[in-house]
Amino acid sequence: MCGIIGYIGNQNVVPILIDGLKRLEYRGYDSAGVAFIQDNKIEVRRCVGKLKNLEMALSGEKSFSTIGIGHTRWATHGRPSEENAHPHRVDNIVVVHNGIIENYSQLKKELASEGRRFASETDTEVIAHLIDRQVKRGLSLVEAVQEALKEVKGAYAIAVLRQEEPEILVGARNGCPLVAGLCQGGAFLASDIPAILNYTRDVVFLDDKEIITLTPEGIRIMDIEGSPIEKELSKVIWNPVMAEKGGYRHFMLKEIYEQPRAIMDTIRGRLSHDTGNVYLDEIGLSADDIKGLKNIFIVACGTSWHAALAGKFMIEEMARIPVEVDVASEFRYRDPIIDEGSLLIAITQSGETADTLAAIREAKRKKGKAFSICNVVGSTAARESDGVIYTHAGPEIGVAATKTFTSQLVALYLLAIYLGRVKGVVSQGAGKRHLEVLSQLPHLIEKVLEKNEKIEEMARLYSHYKDFLYLGRGPNYPIALEGALKLKEISYIHAEGYPAGEMKHGPIALIDDQMPSVVLITKNSVYDKVLSNIMEVKARSGKVIALATEGDQDIAGRVDHVFYLPEFDPLLTPVLLAIPLQLFAYHIAIIRGCDVDQPRNLAKSVTVE
Ligand code: AGP
Repeated sequence: MCGIIGYIGNQNVVPILIDGLKRLEYRGYDSAGVAFIQDNKIEVRRCVGKLKNLEMALSGEKSFSTIGIGHTRWATHGRPSEENAHPHRVDNIVVVHNGIIENYSQLKKELASEGRRFASETDTEVIAHLIDRQVKRGLSLVEAVQEALKEVKGAYAIAVLRQEEPEILVGARNGCPLVAGLCQGGAFLASDIPAILNYTRDVVFLDDKEIITLTPEGIRIMDIEGSPIEKELSKVIWNPVMAEKGGYRHFMLKEIYEQPRAIMDTIRGRLSHDTGNVYLDEIGLSADDIKGLKNIFIVACGTSWHAALAGKFMIEEMARIPVEVDVASEFRYRDPIIDEGSLLIAITQSGETADTLAAIREAKRKKGKAFSICNVVGSTAARESDGVIYTHAGPEIGVAATKTFTSQLVALYLLAIYLGRVKGVVSQGAGKRHLEVLSQLPHLIEKVLEKNEKIEEMARLYSHYKDFLYLGRGPNYPIALEGALKLKEISYIHAEGYPAGEMKHGPIALIDDQMPSVVLITKNSVYDKVLSNIMEVKARSGKVIALATEGDQDIAGRVDHVFYLPEFDPLLTPVLLAIPLQLFAYHIAIIRGCDVDQPRNLAKSVTVE
């Protein structure tokens, strides 16, 4: 996600802001900016691209200011551009923001009807207007922030300046991290510790719905109603590298643990619990377009292709539209039969995978409709498609996809409900139930993550094997493929994913006591069939690790090891199953001394054919 830095004190602020932003660069960003108050005037500098562009824009200026805020933006609402870069200024207020404002379009309409003009496509600008509206009613900056935030729904960490109050910097958080740092003669505000680690190790972590006022003398924290809150000072003991990874040993592990948040952000603002509907107008299809769809192609590579396979189950079940799934590198070479009644969905976290882009172009050349599911706002896939569903997983730095994968699964689930509701296949009641189930998912993932130690133990027992088989059926089959891919990618162990029923048509010949099978056997309509597959493996001395549903005691007696997952909706169980498989691959790779964040021979996005 985006990075925030703020400072008030007795030192020159611009070098501090730039230094702080540089320390957040590893997170990825598309634009950057700073705002500071100099000679009683707010100055804003923003640039698309790398920080060096911002430094160039500032070079030659002899600025001296002791209060300022800075931001690196990872686009969520609005493409990467100078207008959309932060800080956002409305009259004498400037704001930087991380997070997603769910009700921003409604607030934007309301503010526009009062004659307010918007200079960007962002949700953040709404916050700046709301604060400005309050100060124009006579409130101080901190009071204005308090009142403005009462109108906002969603997740935010913000830092705000007001030209008329150059002696304070105000921040607030709800659902996005924000930390204050204290040092001699000054105070810092940051989204992440690395930004301020050069200056201080004395920090205070903000909690949700807290507002902070920083002055050169220190900080004051209050709740949204203005009641003061006392908070403990913490000492940061992380070194800079540990701090970048949020204390985790690797980006991959950090990203595995970020999945509840990534999923929450992907569904945020898209569910209407009252109507059972999903807001996905961004796919660029009218109700008539959807009703007229003859077929859907989902096209992707690697992990995204596994998401596509799972998406087929979701869309066919909920929308009753036939879905074909293709590996993008094959798609255009088989002269696919596409016409005006066809829809192509390209899934690509980066939005830059050459083969997937070629598939979008092929569909459009043949007059089909095309939209993408993508994690990078403004990427080529997003720009070239007729519409886009953004997953809001935040930047993924580990080469092995984790949080982008599960966010793609959730985006597909949303899409399936959306199509089903438009087509009338999913009733209002069923829609409500699906949304209810989906809302439980982040919490259930947290519960699975709590059992990391159990996975680590299993990894220790299995890390010396050279070959693995991953088996699953129905919607769990794509997750078997994904589990095998994760193991291959980061631990360099040979692993094959198979539909469990297909095992006896070949792979069964490989089974012996040296080839363990990881079998996904959660409670669903094919449970008994997968159980038979397990018996076939056991009969050939194969070791079995089962991923099963809590309460299934019987399975424990039939396999070598079992990992239990909460009982859940069969179409969303794949999301839960992905978590232990990611952790299993991670721990095995660590035990074998592999570089999990940058595995050999792999690139994060494959931009060549
Ligand atoms: C996943 O762990 C891989 N690194 C790889 O298979 C990846 O999913 C594939 O290259 C597709 O990338 P994309 O989603 O950015 O298009």
